[in-house]
Amino acid sequence: FSSPCRSCIAFGPKNRSIGAAAKSQVISNAKNTVQSFKRFHGRAFSDPFVQAEKANLAYELVQLPTGSTGIKVMYMEEERNFTIEQVTGMLLTKLKETAENALKKPVVDCVVSVPCFYTDAERRSVMDATQIAGLNCLRLINETTAVALAYGIYKQDLPALEEKPRNVVFVDMGHSAYQVSVCAFNKGKLKVLATSFDTTLGGRKFDEMLVEYFCEEFGKKYKLDIKSKIRALLRLYQECEKLKKLMSANASDLPMNIECFMNDIDVSGTMNRSKFLEMCDDLLARVEPPLRSVLEQAKLKKEDIYAVEIVGGTTRIPAVKEKISKFFGKEVSTTLNADEAVARGCALQCAILSPAFKVREFSITDLIPYPISLRWNSPAEEGDCEVFPKNHAAPFSKVLTFYRKEPFTLEAYYSSPKELPYPDPAIGTHFLVQKVTPQTDGSSSKVKVKVRVNIHGIFSVSSASLVEVHKSDENEEPMETDQHAKEEETSQADSKDKKVDQPPQAKKAKVKTTTVDLPIENQLVWQIGKDMLNLFIENEGKMIMQDKLEKERNDAKNAVEEYVYDMRDKLCGIYEKFVSEDDRSSFTLKLEDTENWLYEDGEDQPKQIYIDKLTELKTLGQPIQARFQESEERPKAFEDLGKQIQQYMKTVHAFKAKDEQYDHLDEADVAKVEKSANEAMEWMNNKLNLQNKRSLTLDPVIKAKDIQAKIKELTSICNPIVTKPKPKVELPKEEQKPTELNGPVEGQGEADSGSQTAEESTAAAAPAATEKKLPEMDID
Ligand SMILES: *[C@@H]1O[C@H](CO)[C@@H](O)[C@H](O)[C@H]1NC(C)=O
Ligand SMILES: *[C@@H]1O[C@H](CO)[C@@H](O)[C@H](O)[C@H]1NC(C)=O
Ligand SMILES: *[C@@H]1O[C@H](CO)[C@@H](O)[C@H](O)[C@H]1NC(C)=O
Ligand SMILES: *[C@@H]1O[C@H](CO)[C@@H](O)[C@H](O)[C@H]1NC(C)=O
Ligand SMILES: *[C@@H]1O[C@H](CO)[C@@H](O)[C@H](O)[C@H]1NC(C)=O
Repeated sequence: FSSPCRSCIAFGPKNRSIGAAAKSQVISNAKNTVQSFKRFHGRAFSDPFVQAEKANLAYELVQLPTGSTGIKVMYMEEERNFTIEQVTGMLLTKLKETAENALKKPVVDCVVSVPCFYTDAERRSVMDATQIAGLNCLRLINETTAVALAYGIYKQDLPALEEKPRNVVFVDMGHSAYQVSVCAFNKGKLKVLATSFDTTLGGRKFDEMLVEYFCEEFGKKYKLDIKSKIRALLRLYQECEKLKKLMSANASDLPMNIECFMNDIDVSGTMNRSKFLEMCDDLLARVEPPLRSVLEQAKLKKEDIYAVEIVGGTTRIPAVKEKISKFFGKEVSTTLNADEAVARGCALQCAILSPAFKVREFSITDLIPYPISLRWNSPAEEGDCEVFPKNHAAPFSKVLTFYRKEPFTLEAYYSSPKELPYPDPAIGTHFLVQKVTPQTDGSSSKVKVKVRVNIHGIFSVSSASLVEVHKSDENEEPMETDQHAKEEETSQADSKDKKVDQPPQAKKAKVKTTTVDLPIENQLVWQIGKDMLNLFIENEGKMIMQDKLEKERNDAKNAVEEYVYDMRDKLCGIYEKFVSEDDRSSFTLKLEDTENWLYEDGEDQPKQIYIDKLTELKTLGQPIQARFQESEERPKAFEDLGKQIQQYMKTVHAFKAKDEQYDHLDEADVAKVEKSANEAMEWMNNKLNLQNKRSLTLDPVIKAKDIQAKIKELTSICNPIVTKPKPKVELPKEEQKPTELNGPVEGQGEADSGSQTAEESTAAAAPAATEKKLPEMDID
C-alpha cells in the first residue's frame, strides 16, 4: 500500500467515508473530513511542525493525553479524538477491503511505503496503524526504494553481478515532499547509494503560491477576506490545483473563474505560466540542492549516471522537469508511471516477501539516512558511540560488548539533529539491560548487546546476553565463539562485532563460557502501549461493523427507491398491457406515496422498515411482472413444442413411406409416437385458443414451464422409439477395415464407435439437425 498524502476520510453521523466518497465531502463536511494527516505520524502536538500546519487545516488537531497529535471530529453525533495511527488504520482498512474485493480472498500481509526521511517514531507510528487495520506488515519500504524496485525488477539488461553496476537517480516530487535517491543496479539486486530530500517541497507549496496570489488579488478586487471562510479557501485550493495542472500543458493566459465564491460574488482572474514561474522562483531554487547532495554522498559524477527517472505528480511542472534535466545535463526519463510507481514497488516487494507468491528474487540493500548513536552511563564515565554512521547499509545488526557488574541503561539517539526533519533526536530514552550480575570472582561480566535497524528502518536493542566464564582444569578448547555474530536477520548486509568500552583483554586458555539471555526493558518515544493498541483494534472493529450496518441500511433504502422508479417507468411502458386501468392507477399512487415518504418520514429508518416496504410494493408489482415475463416466454415455449411435434410426425410419415432409414422400427411403437404427437397437438391448440381469448391483465391459462413440461413428457415417450439404433450390419471381414467407411467414426473413441456405423450415427441426428422449418401455427 502506498498511501498518497491526499488520502481522505470523512466522518458522518452514522458512518465513515473513505477515499473517493470522502473527497466529495471536503467542502460540504469540511470540519470532519481529514486529509494530509500522514505527516503527523509520530509527532507531539507541541512539535513546531504540527503547530505551523495546524492553522492551514479545515479540521482540528488536538493534544492527546499522551502528548501526541490527535484529530478531533464529530462522528456518530459525538465528539471524538482519534490518534493519527487510528486514522491511518481506517485508511488501511479500506485499502485492505478493496484488495480483498478485487482478489476475492482475505488479505493479511502487506508492504507499506513511507517517505525515506521518516524517523524512528514516525515509522513505529505507521507500523501501529497497520496493526490497527489487522494487517501484518512485512516491510515498511522507503518510497524511493519502492520506485527503484519497480524500475529494476523487470529490467532484462542489468549488468551481471561482477560487472560495474548501473547507477540510476530517482527523483520523486509528490504533493508534499521531494525525495531523491541514487541506486546501483546489478542483475537481481539493487543497492541504495544515497538519498536526500526536502521534506516540505511538493505540489502543495506550488498550489499555495497560487492561493496566496488569488487571495490577495480577489481580496483587493472584490473586498473579500477569503481566509476567514474555510469553505471559500478550500474551493480556492481546488481551483488553484486545477489551474496549476492546466498551466503545465498550456503556456497562454488562462482564466480563473469561480461562481458564487463568497458572499454570492462570482470572481474571475487570469494567470499564465511565465508569471507563475516568477512567483515560484524560491521553490524552484530548492530543486537542485538535493540532486547535488546525492551525487556528493555517493561520490558519483554526473557522467556516472545512466538515467534519471522522475515520478510524482509535481514533476509534471515543466520548470521542475527542466531544472532536473539541466542539472544532470541529460533528458529525464519517465519509464515509470508517475502516480503508481510507488504502489507498484510496494506490491512487488510484498510479492517477494510473501510465501503466497512466486516472484523472481530481487535483493534490496537500503541505507540509514541519519547516523544513530548510543549513550550509556558506566561507573567510570559517560560513554557515547556512533553505532550506525550516515548511509550505513540497512537492515543491519551489530553486537556490542560491555563489561558490567549491574544492570545498565542505553539511550539511542540520532547524532546529527541538524539533518533531522524532526524536532526530537531521541529514539529510545532508555533500553534497560536487566539482571546483570558480576562474575563469581566479583569482576565485571561480559555483556553482549545486539542493536539493529530492521527491515522497517526501525531501531531496537533487540537482545542482550551475559557471557559466564567458568574456569576449568579440563583440557577443553576455549569457547569464545560469538553466537550473536551469526545473524538470524534476513539481512543482505553482514553483521559485525563491534567492541566498545572494552579493556585490554588477556587471552585466557582453558575457559568454558555459557551465555544467559538478559531481559531488556524498552522505553520509546511515542510508543503506543499494548493495551491502548488493543483498544484501538477493538474500536476499529466496531467502526467497521457500524459502516457495514449503515451500508446495508442504505442499500435497503436505495432498493426501495430504485423499485419505485423502475416500476413507475415500466407501468407506463412494457407492463402497461398487463395491468388493469384500476390496478395501475392505485399502484402508481402507492409508488408516489412511497417516493414522498422516502423524502420525509422514510428518510432515516432502520433497515427492516425498508425491507418491509419493498416487500409490500412487490406484492403488488410481482403479479404484473410475472404476467409480462410469461408473455415473453410463452411464444417460444409453444414454438418449441410445435417443432418437436412436427419432428415426430415427420418420422412417422417417413416410416409409413417405407423409408429405409426407419425400416427397423416396430410398427406398434411408431403408432404410439403418432398418438402421442397428435394428443400433444390437440393439447397445444386448446391451450393456445384459451390463452388467445384471455385478457393479458389476468394471469395466463398456461405457464411457460407447463409447456416445457409437456415437451419433456412427449420426448420421454417418443425419443427412445425414434432413435432406436439400426441393428449392426454384418460385413465380411476384409470389408470392415476400409477407411472410407470407418473414417468418420474414427476418433470418436472406442466406446461409441463400436456399436454404431457412421451411417447410423448421422441418421439418428438428422431430424433434429435438419428440421428448421417453423410449424405453421398461429402463436400468440
Ligand atoms: C454513509 O452513509 C450515507 C447515508 O447515511 C451514505 O450516503 C454514504 O454513502 C455512506 N458512506 C459510505 C462510504 O458508505
Ligand atoms: C479531545 O481533546 C480536547 C483537547 O485536548 C479535549 O478538550 C476534549 O475533551 C477531548 N475530547 C474527547 C471526547 O476526549
Ligand atoms: C490554452 O488555453 C487557451 C485559453 O483557455 C485556449 O484558448 C487554448 O486553446 C489552449 N491551448 C492548448 C494548446 O490547449
Ligand atoms: C503572462 O502574464 C503577464 C502578467 O499578467 C503578462 O505580462 C504576460 O504577457 C503574460 N504572458 C503570456 C504568454 O500570456
Ligand atoms: C529505508 O528503509 C530502510 C529499511 O529497509 C531503513 O533502514 C532506512 O533508514 C531507509 N533509508 C532511507 C534512505 O531512508
